[in-house]
Amino acid sequence: MKNQELMDKINEQVTFEIASGYVYLGMAAWAADNDWDGFSHFMYKQWEEELEHANKMAKFLMDLGYPVTFGAIEAAPSEYKDVLDLAKTSLEHEQEVTQRINEIIDLARKYDDKRVEYFMQWYINEQVEEEDTFSTLIAKIERTNMNPAGLMILDGKLGRRED
Ligand code: FEO
Repeated sequence: MKNQELMDKINEQVTFEIASGYVYLGMAAWAADNDWDGFSHFMYKQWEEELEHANKMAKFLMDLGYPVTFGAIEAAPSEYKDVLDLAKTSLEHEQEVTQRINEIIDLARKYDDKRVEYFMQWYINEQVEEEDTFSTLIAKIERTNMNPAGLMILDGKLGRRED
């Protein structure tokens, strides 16, 4: 396969998407343990979303006849200082995902693989949303000045995330 390097990199990203979900699952557990039920629900939804990202990518590779493999996943962190730390860590994580998606597109261009380049557009748009989700969350948390009453209201709202 002349574009083996590209296909391998997408396969690596499949694992990274699942690993991302795993980080959010750990956050959901931390939040539940610290009685932030809304934050926990929000992060649990994020875990489900990451699995969708991974599945979509794996299916694309399978459709191309690439033998998808699932790599090792590191343990998810389980300690956070507070909900602001949770949100900031999430944004940093998403920035790394964006960087990886950009690298895949660069490689697709190197191999002039239009199928990959077109397919990955969805992830480019998705990453705009992902980064916005967490930068908005950070702004909302900061707006409370870490005031418990404000955080409780925010927690209630996050508990209503549907997708
Ligand atoms: Fe799949 Fe949150 O990037």
